[in-house]
Amino acid sequence: MPPLAIALLGLGAVLLGLVLYWQLIVAEGTYLGPRVVTLMYDWSAGAYDRVKRFVPSDEQWFLGLPLARCLAPTPAPLVLDVATGTGRLPRAVFRQPPFRGRVIGLDLSRGMLRQAVRRTAQFADRLTFVWQGASCLPFQDETFDAVTCLEALEFTPDPRQVLEELVRVLRPGGILLVTNRVGRDAKLLPGRAFPPDAFERMLGELPLEQLTTRSWQVDYNLVWAVKTGEPHGGGIQPLEEILRCPVCESRLERQADNFRCNGCPRSYPIAEDGVIEMAKQM
Ligand SMILES: C[S@@+](CC[C@H](N)C(=O)[O-])C[C@H]1O[C@@H](n2cnc3c(N)ncnc32)[C@H](O)[C@@H]1O
Repeated sequence: MPPLAIALLGLGAVLLGLVLYWQLIVAEGTYLGPRVVTLMYDWSAGAYDRVKRFVPSDEQWFLGLPLARCLAPTPAPLVLDVATGTGRLPRAVFRQPPFRGRVIGLDLSRGMLRQAVRRTAQFADRLTFVWQGASCLPFQDETFDAVTCLEALEFTPDPRQVLEELVRVLRPGGILLVTNRVGRDAKLLPGRAFPPDAFERMLGELPLEQLTTRSWQVDYNLVWAVKTGEPHGGGIQPLEEILRCPVCESRLERQADNFRCNGCPRSYPIAEDGVIEMAKQM
């Protein structure tokens, strides 16, 4: 083979390697669609906590404690953690004794939810997990006292639309806690991660006030905000009252082992481990 062909082949292999590294390692499949992202999390779910090496005191100081404090005025708050992964946020907030609420954790990776169920077993009576994507939250408007989404917006197909969904299901006066990817890799995530001022502008276009951005870990900013409007509602409510069909938006009725939609023929199984499997409608 002529030397030029060998050089070109070598260059092609290097370029392909770089593209694969960018798409699969840095972007974790986000530009290839939710199926690829989910597949990667399904594969790596068992190793996730080991790789992340969460520091318990940091989890309390930056997440559990401030969230429990913000929610203190509500006696039994209802929290939604979108892209809950292995249940990091529920674990942090349940370890705060003043927190007497419930958490619903939602994720599109069934593998991550399996880990979440295992790792939060001691709090099971105050937790519900839902298998569903963040782009279409299966809940009524203005339901939650707090909505959180940590280290995940950049892996969704349209972070702006997901933010709108997070705010839709938050009650006026409720707390929004989200992360925005920053640092070196953020530049390799166009349209998924945003410069801090652009992220704040994007949130400013939503009905939010009291925006606070703090740097958090190496790669993220932690952004807190409050939903505008006269505070009302809130507190723990039965699942039948807050769930809605992600397809037709009708109410769901609880059956022995599933939630049946009142408006279309769909029903959503409750798996043996308790996870409501909306991404696997029957
Ligand atoms: C880096 S992990 C963060 C998990 C958790 N929030 C934490 O801080 O440990 C990203 C999570 O986002 C989930 N995810 C990615 N795309 C999603 C989507 N479109 N809808 C819901 N969850 C999604 C993944 O399955 C994964 O569990």
